Amino acid sequence: MFIEYRGKTPQVAASAFVAPTAVLIGNVVVGENSSIWFGVVLRADEGTIRIGARSSIEDNAVVHSSAAGTTLIGSDVTVGHCAVLDDCTIEDGALVGSNAVVLQGAVVGANSVIAAGSVVKVSERLPERIVAAGVPAKVRKLLAGGAADWIAHSTSESLGQAEAYRRDNIGDPHSHDVKSASRRKRGAVLV
Ligand SMILES: CC(C)(COP(=O)(O)OP(=O)(O)OC[C@H]1O[C@@H](n2cnc3c(N)ncnc32)[C@H](O)[C@@H]1OP(=O)(O)O)[C@@H](O)C(=O)NCCC(=O)NCCS
Repeated sequence: MFIEYRGKTPQVAASAFVAPTAVLIGNVVVGENSSIWFGVVLRADEGTIRIGARSSIEDNAVVHSSAAGTTLIGSDVTVGHCAVLDDCTIEDGALVGSNAVVLQGAVVGANSVIAAGSVVKVSERLPERIVAAGVPAKVRKLLAGGAADWIAHSTSESLGQAEAYRRDNIGDPHSHDVKSASRRKRGAVLV
């Protein structure tokens, strides 16, 4: 479902996948071939959320931006199931593990991995191509091993899954209603 809020309607590339139970609110932009999975909430009623191309926001993740805040998610990013992102930046190619939390002003560098369940502190800046884990998340090593495998495969896997759903007529952004305070329209306005 897309919700227009205070004149801002989510803008989603026609090639994206948006699961039927995802909710996109306000000033949200989703780029080409990105996938927004079941139960995801992208709430930019006051701030801004930008998601690049080929990124995957997995089931039940919550992405928020506060008034005057911005959450930026680059291209080829994976945001794992149930992750929470608030006014932060996730650079290209990074992976935020399931149930991880990235707090206000934090930056996750390109191609880095945040291990499942970790919490990235307010204003923390994590460099490129590292693995960070724990509460609070600390850099554990340079990108290698199992974490490097995740980075290598997660984008192509989510692209394949999204294409399969789209072939089965599930997740076309055009199929979503756009709701607003004043009206209800069938079929989203897309970029
Ligand atoms: C990080 C991860 C990918 C493992 O990668 P890896 O390269 O095999 O990492 P390692 O096992 O070498 O771990 C490196 C360090 O981080 C620690 N660590 C790894 N995962 C951790 C976690 N979830 N929480 C806390 N510490 C963790 C390890 O204990 C190790 O610590 P040490 O250096 O003190 O020994 C994996 O643990 C993980 O979190 N995967 C998340 C996958 C996911 O959520 N994908 C998206 C949804 S499908």
